[in-house]
Amino acid sequence: MSKLTVKDLPVEGKRVFLRVDFNVPLSEEREVMDDTRMRASLPTLEYLIDKGARIIVASHLGRPKGRALEELKMDPVAERLAQLLGRGVLKTDAVIGEEVEKAVANLPPGGVLLLENIRFEPGEEKNEPEFARKLALLADYFVNDAFGTAHRAHASTCGIAAYIPAVAGLLMEKEILYLEKSKINPARPLVAILGGSKVADKIGVIRFFLQQADNLLLGGAMANTFLKASGLSIGGSLYEVDKLEMAGEVLRENGKKCARIMLPQDVVIVEELEEGASSRVVDVDQIPEGWSVVDIGPKTVQAFQNVISKAETVIWNGPLGAYEVAPFHLGTEEVARAVANSGAESITGGGDMVAALVNANLTDKITHISTGGGAVLRFWEGKELPGLDVLQEYSGSRSRS
Ligand code: 3PG
Repeated sequence: MSKLTVKDLPVEGKRVFLRVDFNVPLSEEREVMDDTRMRASLPTLEYLIDKGARIIVASHLGRPKGRALEELKMDPVAERLAQLLGRGVLKTDAVIGEEVEKAVANLPPGGVLLLENIRFEPGEEKNEPEFARKLALLADYFVNDAFGTAHRAHASTCGIAAYIPAVAGLLMEKEILYLEKSKINPARPLVAILGGSKVADKIGVIRFFLQQADNLLLGGAMANTFLKASGLSIGGSLYEVDKLEMAGEVLRENGKKCARIMLPQDVVIVEELEEGASSRVVDVDQIPEGWSVVDIGPKTVQAFQNVISKAETVIWNGPLGAYEVAPFHLGTEEVARAVANSGAESITGGGDMVAALVNANLTDKITHISTGGGAVLRFWEGKELPGLDVLQEYSGSRSRS
């Protein structure tokens, strides 16, 4: 990676502003339901603790839009962080101001302080220079480990870098290394699997893999738009009317010097999407009126498995069915198992994928599960990631441990 990282800094005894992405799902009882993203930043935190840095941790949680919302306070996150680190974590009720300044002044070497939800401050998402400057005044260095938020140009991911030296955390470094490798020089065949609900979110990514992948496998509600564009009747299934033309264009490009696109051949359909709903499996040209596609069918699973078994690299974004409603997670799960057993380098990302892999008990069989959702899509599209771009470049040869 071309950026300086936390290992390039003399952090001993220094105040480090560590931006993480602890935007984790909370239960109704306000308990952290999935701490994958928090665990992913532990190497950076532990490195800084070992070095005796004084660590000011900041994250957003949800989208409070500049308001201090009780339900989006960071207290449950602070509690879980303390459990994960096995040591006390101080938490302030503010992001900036006297309370925070005092807490930072009293922070011992190796001490960890978690600020309140950074998006409670209106200056954060507006990337206000004055707010960014106030954040920078708290610290000697800025370490960005929030890969999941790298596509946002906010004060704590971007603006702060104008005032203090800015480097990557170890998670940020790992994410970029894996993603760059698979983008720049992937082992082939490269198979891309794209699912999820909306074509609109993934147009750039579809176009990228159309050019770069050997096979492009499409599933999820997103595939319905392609099935419809190919002239099929899809009953009452979700699709995007304004993306039909684009989907048709993509299908016409199929086989012309770019990826071979595979759409579902058969699908699981229901009249009402609810847990345990009675369902049928039909070929895609047999979807009756009033029925909706909720998963890929067994022939499709088999066809996808055949392609995946020959892959050297698999990139996957988005589930292939309504995976959150049992049993319509099965198509996603079986394909995930094929990826896990393929021996290919496998890279996936996004909250939905993490949940699907956790449920299938397959997380340790995937080469890299990115903590990014939108950030990964931006990366594949070749768009800039402001939270990465502002970090200092490394010049010279690397000989770090
Ligand atoms: C995410 O969950 O993708 C990141 O935390 C970014 O969140 P945002 O989409 O609210 O900026």
